[in-house]
Amino acid sequence: MSNESLYDRLDAYDGINTFVNNLLPRLQGDDLLGRFWNNRGIDGIEREKQLLIDFLCSGAGGPVYYTGRDMVATHKGMNIDESDWTRFFEHAGATMQALKIPDQECQDVVAFVTSLKGEIVE
Ligand code: HEM
Repeated sequence: MSNESLYDRLDAYDGINTFVNNLLPRLQGDDLLGRFWNNRGIDGIEREKQLLIDFLCSGAGGPVYYTGRDMVATHKGMNIDESDWTRFFEHAGATMQALKIPDQECQDVVAFVTSLKGEIVE
């Protein structure tokens, strides 16, 4: 396995930016998950997108300081359940496939996101 950080292996900021820009519209347009983004303003969604990019960059070992809230405070009360979580992963998988992210990096992203499940799913 490479010694490079996951951040570098994902093509750094630009790669993660592309990843989030591919993923978010899939989540927002989904019949199950769309409810979480219904009736939210464009600026709020853009702000959240930037924070997600920063969070992933930072979590992958990049030189980015995440200024958002922690995952519990952010998602508590949204009632994100197992079926939402499964659907989220289907879309994340479709994004990784669309962007042709290599297997090892896919596995590492999945492991990182899975480690957050207990903080997000209620
Ligand atoms: C089914 C899964 C998920 C749903 C439905 C969901 C939904 C949301 C929504 C609606 C917001 C906006 C909250 C607001 O503006 O008040 C948000 C913010 C955020 N989410 Fe998620 N989320 C999910 C999974 C994740 C995962 C897996 C991560 C991390 C890899 C994540 C990271 C974030 C971050 C960083 C923010 C911004 C935090 C902030 O506003 O300070 N979310 N999420």
